[in-house]
This record gives sequence, structure tokens and C-alpha cells, in this order.
Amino acid sequence: AKGIRVAIDGPAAAGKSTVAKIVAEKSSFIYIDTGAMYRALTWKVLQNRISPEDSQSIVDLLAKTDIDLEQGKSGQRVRVDGDDVTEAIRTEQVTGSVSHIAKHPNVREQMVQRQRKLANKHDIVMDGRDIGTHVIPNAEVKVFLKASVEERARRRYDENMQKGLTTDFETLKNEIEERDRIDSNRETAPLVKADDAIALDTTDLTIDDVASSILEKVNQAI
Ligand code: C5P
Repeated sequence: AKGIRVAIDGPAAAGKSTVAKIVAEKSSFIYIDTGAMYRALTWKVLQNRISPEDSQSIVDLLAKTDIDLEQGKSGQRVRVDGDDVTEAIRTEQVTGSVSHIAKHPNVREQMVQRQRKLANKHDIVMDGRDIGTHVIPNAEVKVFLKASVEERARRRYDENMQKGLTTDFETLKNEIEERDRIDSNRETAPLVKADDAIALDTTDLTIDDVASSILEKVNQAI
């Protein structure tokens, strides 16, 4: 059978990873979170006190960095050189720096190479910003998820509450808008819908609605 590649792109906190995990699980595909890869690199850049603007040092660092995504029983674990950084890559500090690091063309080039290798091996669901446009332009299924920034901030807020974190709603909203702004305006592989991607506005949809409609496309592609 031919491999099926599902590309899910969209702005920050649009529900991509939640939906991608469900689609992957129901289809027995491998889920690859490319945002986690950029976050893992960002974590290491900050650990090494390298400036987010120093793209050459960042590329050199990335070249000797092992980033491993694995599906454990309790969800996805992210490892950098063997260290579990699953929680560490979700801090405000990493979130606030990741877009500055992800904008460098030479950094993206190396990341995209790694992502293509991962995509070649299996049936996969990959989420990010440039999967349908650059990483896997010939993906069998391409989806672009959107939602109003208010709704995205509300979801992130609720998610944080469930983890026992109280966050300021306006701060969350500003962080999301700022990240979208940098991701959409960078020169290399900006956040944009692929012409042939299906756009889904999830503002008024449930997670299950979104997952079912993507699963329908996957079943048509098999
Ligand atoms: O998906 P997530 O919000 O965790 O991604 C974190 C950041 O990583 C994004 O804001 C973006 O700057 C970068 N990213 C990217 N290309 C991807 C995935 C993520 O530039 N394919």
C-alpha cells in the first residue's frame, strides 16, 4: 500500500495537535509534531545562552543535536540528546523565543530535512506551519485549521486551567497574535494556507467534528 501523508497547518493554538493526535490514533498513523522540534531546539539554544538572532551558532548547535519524538503510553514525549524536555518546551520562555529562532532560513532547511526523513518512513500525520506548502507539498491530505484569536486564546486558557495554571487571558491573546505575526511575515516558508489545502474554521466546531471531517478525507485517500 502507498503511504498516506496528512499535513495539518494553521496558526498558533488552532487545535492542530489535539486533532492530529486523534486522526493519527484512529488511523494507526504516526503523529509528528514539528512545532515540538522547533521548541526543542529553542530550549537548547536558551540553555546554551545563544542569542535567538545568532543563526549560524543555532545551525551549528542543531547539527549536533538529537531531537527525538516518541509516542509513549501517556502521550508524546520529546527528548533532546536523551533528556526528556516534554514539559520544558512548553514554558513561556520557550514559547516567547521559538518564532524568532524558527524564522532563520538555514535553521528551517535542516529542520525540513529531518521532517522529510520522518515523513518518508510511515503513514503519518504531521502538523506545523509549512507542512502542506514546503515539507510535504505532495501530501495526500492537506488541511488548514483556523479559528478566531479570541477562541484560540480561550482554548489555551482552559487548557492551562486544567493543568492548574492561571494565565492572564489578554497576555495569552497577545502572545498568540505576536507569534502568528512573526510566523506569517517571515521570508522563508511563512504560515500560509497551501492552495490545495482544505480550510476548516474550527471556531464553532468541536474537536470531534474537526477530527471526523479530516478522517473522512483520509479514508478517501486510502
Ligand atoms: O506548533 P507550535 O505552536 O508548538 O509551534 C511553535 C513555533 O514553532 C511556531 O510558532 C513557529 O514559529 C514554529 N514552527 C514553524 N514551522 C513549523 C512548526 C512550528 O516555524 N512547521
